[in-house]
Amino acid sequence: MDQTAIFRHARELQQATTLDDLMRVTEQAVAAISRYRQTWLVLRDSDPSIVRLIAASQDLKPLAFERSPIIPVTGDPMVEEILTAHHVVVVEDARTDPRTNKATVARMQNRTIINVPLCIGERLVGALGIGTYGGEGVLPPTQEELDALVVYAMQLAAAWERVHLSEERLRAEHERHALQQRLEAVQRLEMMGVLTSGVAHDLNNLLMVVIANLESLDTPMAAETRATVDDALAAGRRARDVAKQLLVLGREPTARRETLDLAARVAATVELIRAAVPRGVTVRQSVVANPAIEGDPVQIDQALANLLLNARDAIGDRGEIVTTVDAVDFDEAACRRLRWAHVGHYARVEVHDNGSGVPPELIGRVFEPLFTTKPHGTGLGLAVVSQVVERHHGFVRCESELGRGTSFEVYFPTK
Ligand SMILES: Nc1ncnc2c1ncn2[C@@H]1O[C@H](COP(=O)(O)OP(=O)(O)O)[C@@H](O)[C@H]1O
Ligand SMILES: [Mg+2]
Repeated sequence: MDQTAIFRHARELQQATTLDDLMRVTEQAVAAISRYRQTWLVLRDSDPSIVRLIAASQDLKPLAFERSPIIPVTGDPMVEEILTAHHVVVVEDARTDPRTNKATVARMQNRTIINVPLCIGERLVGALGIGTYGGEGVLPPTQEELDALVVYAMQLAAAWERVHLSEERLRAEHERHALQQRLEAVQRLEMMGVLTSGVAHDLNNLLMVVIANLESLDTPMAAETRATVDDALAAGRRARDVAKQLLVLGREPTARRETLDLAARVAATVELIRAAVPRGVTVRQSVVANPAIEGDPVQIDQALANLLLNARDAIGDRGEIVTTVDAVDFDEAACRRLRWAHVGHYARVEVHDNGSGVPPELIGRVFEPLFTTKPHGTGLGLAVVSQVVERHHGFVRCESELGRGTSFEVYFPTK
């Protein structure tokens, strides 16, 4: 056994700070102490029914990640043996050995597989895999190779534990930071709620008077005067819209609750805003499924209108807005995959536009109250959307590509 190679790699492992570092050193170490060129790492997951595959060898990477990043434990006696036995598991020919999952072997083209356990004290955290594929053929290990791999795996396990713990710490810090930001946003929203419930109501009433008076001015007047009155009227209506948004923000959570037809709400809101949409912008509506939801129709219309108007603003003169209503179920597995999802049955409405898109660095801020990039924006539209959605126990997400368009998806729990 090449002792100096083992020491050299032990030192390099000590300097590793990321999983990628570990994998790079491992690839070199395995090549130095054995005849094998392919190596990978299998790690236990918090979910005991799977293990995760993390590839090391460069030429193995695309294969492993595309074809089998998550390996189910049941139905794979070899993996079961690794997890329970804590000793080296050698499969000379994966095609004939009864312990392998033949479907996986056929997909991955495995030949010889050597699994060396990675243990921290008594705890098995995973296995270092070494082996041959396809044209490399079957290549049984010598005792000397196995000894060297076991020694290396002991050092790898210790280094992995250290890297893992420091990555966990970083992630926890990151999460704490995100939580703090979210808390601040909620606090701002709360403050605004207090502020607005007092002001918005009065403002709304006063503006109604102003608008009604201006509208009643139907006596003949000079064109100039007419233009001035129309300007005042337009500004008054805009101010009333802002006051209405503020009312929704400040409103008590005890809103109306009735059974709603989401697709019908979308259709009605599209009709309502159609006059405000330029001629060159088409609005298409698609209904794939339309499960009933419970909610406050006024608030939901307001949220939908805000999304549609934002889509319009992002498009300009020519483009397309597509609304889609459908049903989506998320189970535990889906939620693990899509980190933003929550378990349950939902009615989903998507508002998609092929407009300007949101720059990636701003996407985290669009729901903040008062955040706007528009010269005459209020920054209230999406704050209202997120509050309405929260009050309906749903969630909202935004996906956007700069220059290509934006999709907002709102999920309402179904009855
Ligand atoms: N569909 C969209 N496409 C591009 N950017 C959007 C879209 N919707 C929202 N935004 C961005 O989010 C910001 C906040 O939106 P919103 O809260 O509705 O306020 P406002 O529309 O008054 O600016 C907008 O100013 C814009 O930068
Ligand atoms: Mg808006």
